[in-house]
Amino acid sequence: MGLIAAETINELNSRLDAVAVVGDYVKLEKKSGRWWGRCPFHNEKTPSFTVDPERKTYYCFGCHEGGGVVNFVMEMDKLSFPEAVEILAKRFGVSVIRENTDGIINTSEIEKKKENLSVLYNRVAGSFSYILMETQEGAAALRYVRSRGFTDELIQRFRLGYAPQETFWLHKFLLGKGYSESFLAESGLFTKANPRKAFFSDRLIFPISGRQGQITAFGGRILNGDGPKYINSAESLIYKKRETLFAIDLAMAEIRNTKEVIVAEGYMDVMALHEAGIRNAVAPLGTAFTAEQARLLGRWAGRIKLLFDSDAAGRAAAAKAILTCRSVSIPAFVVAPESSADLKDPADILKEKGAGYLQQFVKKCILDFEYLLSENKRSLNNSDSNGKARAVSSLFPFLDLVDSEVERETYIRRIAEAFETGIQPVLNDYKVWHDGGSTTTPKNTEAIVQRSIRMNDELYLLNAVAVNCGANSSLFAKLRSAIPIEGFTDHNAKELYITLEECSRAGSMNFEAILNGIEDGALRQFVAENAATKAFSEKPEFIVADSIRRVQEERLTRKQNELVLRMRAAKSDGLSVDDLIHEKMFIDAELQNLKGVNK
Ligand code: CTP
Ligand code: MN
Repeated sequence: MGLIAAETINELNSRLDAVAVVGDYVKLEKKSGRWWGRCPFHNEKTPSFTVDPERKTYYCFGCHEGGGVVNFVMEMDKLSFPEAVEILAKRFGVSVIRENTDGIINTSEIEKKKENLSVLYNRVAGSFSYILMETQEGAAALRYVRSRGFTDELIQRFRLGYAPQETFWLHKFLLGKGYSESFLAESGLFTKANPRKAFFSDRLIFPISGRQGQITAFGGRILNGDGPKYINSAESLIYKKRETLFAIDLAMAEIRNTKEVIVAEGYMDVMALHEAGIRNAVAPLGTAFTAEQARLLGRWAGRIKLLFDSDAAGRAAAAKAILTCRSVSIPAFVVAPESSADLKDPADILKEKGAGYLQQFVKKCILDFEYLLSENKRSLNNSDSNGKARAVSSLFPFLDLVDSEVERETYIRRIAEAFETGIQPVLNDYKVWHDGGSTTTPKNTEAIVQRSIRMNDELYLLNAVAVNCGANSSLFAKLRSAIPIEGFTDHNAKELYITLEECSRAGSMNFEAILNGIEDGALRQFVAENAATKAFSEKPEFIVADSIRRVQEERLTRKQNELVLRMRAAKSDGLSVDDLIHEKMFIDAELQNLKGVNK
């Protein structure tokens, strides 16, 4: 039998319906994106027990009980962890994978297939890129991208490619490399109707990568003839559109540095921004910006800037993206052109006005609420009081997603002012809309502002270890031998470190034990949420090794700076700095070494 594998727990977390499970025990009611009920863990009259369907967690503001859904079922039915997992897995159609007792996971067929697909996509991207950059066949496509204002350096950084017109070439080529017909047929690179015919033909290819730069899908832009302007490869084991952002691998460093991200509409827009030196730009993949994408970005960026086309479709997409961001508690900013004479999208701006202009352009942004307000006012016909009511009420969904009661109140004032009406009428309309006609509202418990934890490199490392060490117990050993607890500055990272240490000593290195070992409720929820988003469970060894290096780098840089300060102080006090110089030399060398490994 053995322990339940972390991937099973992650899969279960991603599939289970928290409201349905908890709803079997507690009567729940929806208010502002959360579900509320009377806490089953303590006696109360007004509901302060909440279920977050996105995070799949429960939390009671009264007694501060909280955790994941598995935990909830364990508590309610007095079950062991494996029993609770088995029951839930059955209910949500997840097959339970167990580790061998010696700790090695039975690598499932699925894992092997994922790995093979990933190798295939990266190889094909290499071929497409070669054809674009080096062959006569790709010459026209290369001329086209260059004509859009992109340098060869950028074209190569984005690993753009060209898929040849000849539709049977790719299949023959890959068969020659030893791939089987059946594997290729399922690879997503060939058409359903004819499994030897390439899906992309005579198209400019935009590789789509995961966070670590591994290619997982392609987008292809038409160059000649008829057909959709873009086609994108289908979802696969390694590609979930909703969770992927174009250019995230290239933008991550700058997002970390600036704590800001620009979300544009399309591939070309992102390339134009990067070409102009604005490297924290990403885009969704031809679909609307999703909550998953927003949440992912929110881990690293305090500010999300939306930069959408200025046409009607782009403005509607921006309005929707605003709500998506707010639904995961992130206020967005919108890059809004001052005059409507401005060009349609960043790619046009780069081409017509140049990089400097584009850099200035993205600086002009306004807060999400102000954007919606001005959009709504624009569409309003003044003489029509019904139109006014409609314009005001179209701001209600936004108000509903505002976390803070105080903030909401400020917006209501602004609305009243902007539409020249009283605050009370706006409030009344909002209340009617919000309650769907009923006037009895339960106590506004949602106004209690939840403490939010912002991700940083240290916390990221500890989360990656915590989420995966059930499946791979060596991850914590690796962390411990690389960085002692004193090497961390973030107090949440430290708390997690301690919890891991305790679980490791107690021989209970599994996710549930770790979750239960975390004292702080907000941190517990934070970790539970990260486990549920799956971002941490892909290539955990890689993520952990990479994060260790990052944290070490930060730590050494900190030491370096400290030494410089101490040297300065010693010098001004007329003391010798020889020892300090010596110490600094070591640290410089270590840092150099680390950065070398990175290359
Ligand atoms: N898109 C798509 N399928 C289409 C059209 C668009 O998937 N048939 C997606 C692509 O991801 C595209 C984005 O929507 O990048 C934005 O579309 P659009 O503004 O038309 O494309 P641009 O990226 O601006 O490309 P170009 O400048 O070459 O027109
Ligand atoms: Mn566009």
